[in-house]
Amino acid sequence: MERRVFTKEILSSVLSFSLLDTLFTTNAFSNTIDPITKHWAKTLNEFCSDLRKETISPIEWQGQIENLYKEIELSELLKFIDFDNLIKGFEYPDLGVNTKTVKFPKLEGLPERTKFVKKIFGMKKNRAIIPHGHSNMASAHLIIKGEMHLRQYEKIRKEDNKLIIKPSIDKTFSLSESSSISDEKNNVHWFVARTETAFTFDVIMLDLKGEQYDIQNLDIYEKEDLKDGTMIVPVLDVQAALNKYGNETHH
Ligand SMILES: [Fe+2]
Repeated sequence: MERRVFTKEILSSVLSFSLLDTLFTTNAFSNTIDPITKHWAKTLNEFCSDLRKETISPIEWQGQIENLYKEIELSELLKFIDFDNLIKGFEYPDLGVNTKTVKFPKLEGLPERTKFVKKIFGMKKNRAIIPHGHSNMASAHLIIKGEMHLRQYEKIRKEDNKLIIKPSIDKTFSLSESSSISDEKNNVHWFVARTETAFTFDVIMLDLKGEQYDIQNLDIYEKEDLKDGTMIVPVLDVQAALNKYGNETHH
């Protein structure tokens, strides 16, 4: 009889412990998150899964992710990624940009390892995400703080250590505006912060089609106009590119 009571107590304490554990790791925290946001995060993961499986094209993915960015309230997204905590002690480099990996809260139906890389990119005024093109990558960028001047270019082709590109976007992007890149559309981007600090939230897909991704830093100031709407620009190594483009006040 005594033994039975003992067992029962153990059992009930184990049960309540695991119940509490469940509450704290999933429900209690995620209960503060809007169900729409939970659905949003799962949908984001599904679109990335579709791109990985190649059931959608990179261009379709770009459209879908940018549409999703339009659907979420900025304040809700900032809460969801715990932006205030992410930027505590954030180190703003004198040249270029710094990044921090984003963690989503644990949600039912969302794998802990999402199908995509998620990061915030932050920089001080006049610093740049230096001009670069990409291979076997797709990414989508949402302005979550400040303003940035964004220039984008289509990648036409590669020639030796040069890229032939064509301007496609040149405008100032404000809060909640977004952009994206892939091998198919708007491959090259170049962001310059226009406010004291500026941040993007990025969803990034690497190694598409089973191929290793690559980034080419471009020397756009050295462009040669090919008189057909395109220009040819040299590829630069990272350090030279950072020195030349990382901080506009150096010029
Ligand atoms: Fe990029």
